[in-house]
Amino acid sequence: MNKKIGVKILGTGSYFPKKVLTNTDLEKMVDTSDEWIRTRTGIKERRISEKNETTSDLAYLASLEALKSSNISPEQIDLILVATITPDMFFPSTACFLQKKLGLNFVPVFDLSAACSGFIYGIATARAFIESGLYKTVLLVGAESLSKITDWTDRNTCVLFGDGAGAMLLSASEENDNILSTYLGADGAYSELLFIPGGGSANPATVETVNQKLHTMKMQGKDVFKAAVPKMALAARKALELSGKKLENINLFIPHQANMRIIEAVAKKLDISMDRVFVNIHKTGNISSATTITALDEAIKTGRVKSGDLVEMVAFGGGFTWGASVVRI
Ligand code: UT7
Repeated sequence: MNKKIGVKILGTGSYFPKKVLTNTDLEKMVDTSDEWIRTRTGIKERRISEKNETTSDLAYLASLEALKSSNISPEQIDLILVATITPDMFFPSTACFLQKKLGLNFVPVFDLSAACSGFIYGIATARAFIESGLYKTVLLVGAESLSKITDWTDRNTCVLFGDGAGAMLLSASEENDNILSTYLGADGAYSELLFIPGGGSANPATVETVNQKLHTMKMQGKDVFKAAVPKMALAARKALELSGKKLENINLFIPHQANMRIIEAVAKKLDISMDRVFVNIHKTGNISSATTITALDEAIKTGRVKSGDLVEMVAFGGGFTWGASVVRI
């Protein structure tokens, strides 16, 4: 019988745009306060891309970092996946633009749309491709320019989001199996609680859709909050079960960074003390599919996790979608 193909995490990288938007800056734009944003969300500042800076630009710079930390040459990549809800264009995929920037003509590429759970969906997809033997080395990126789909006059949403990208290189391995489990879920019944109504086939772009601001994010925050906590706890438990590990074996939990109160409520539900939970929302805001991977990259770079440690990543987002993955670093 053939030996099972393992999946090794070769390295990670991230990139954030230079421009910082603080809560104090936002006070000058909408009727809000630093105090409200900090106490209701935990966010102090977020990064904002330049007008001419695209999602694939952020993805490219994060990918270069991941390549550096992986110590492989770009030519070894044989599949590129980009999780994003803020593609450069409707089509071609952002993965196509990234491929061009990396100079990897002919490598197959595609985008994945699962909102804030995008990177977890991406890990499951990359793992399945590698384990099937179809591809050996996958570049997986979570990249977002949420500032470009934000209504900067809507205080309910504009204080929450930011831009950034994270990347991971995964490869087939006989010795390592770093992805211990992936668990995915979704419920389309709630699709209109967090969405962009305009621009697609339901409401193609017209002068009216622009005037009605249908091309920016709409969210029923309270309802999303209420669903996020139990679903993230459920996903964390399921992925743990599938990994065969116990809660006490996990060195670090990396939850999606949407709201500090959601993170604390999930930790409480799982009975995990906050010193085992990674938080960087104060400086990033919510960057959707890029949150878990940029957080993991920071945890590795700052020594918060070391080689051999077990990490559980958990996410929840528009769709609704949710998912979790237990990985060994
Ligand atoms: O990433 C994917 C998923 N996204 C999330 O998980 C986000 C989930 N939702 C949330 O994080 C929270 O619901 C929010 C941060 C969006 C809102 O917090 P909340 O505690 O649920 O506040 P709320 O929407 O119930 O609003 C409370 C009050 C309202 O005023 P009234 O009606 O009580 O007078 C809002 O108008 O706070 C007001 N408010 C604000 N005030 C100052 C809403 N946004 C702001 C603001 N500044 N930026």
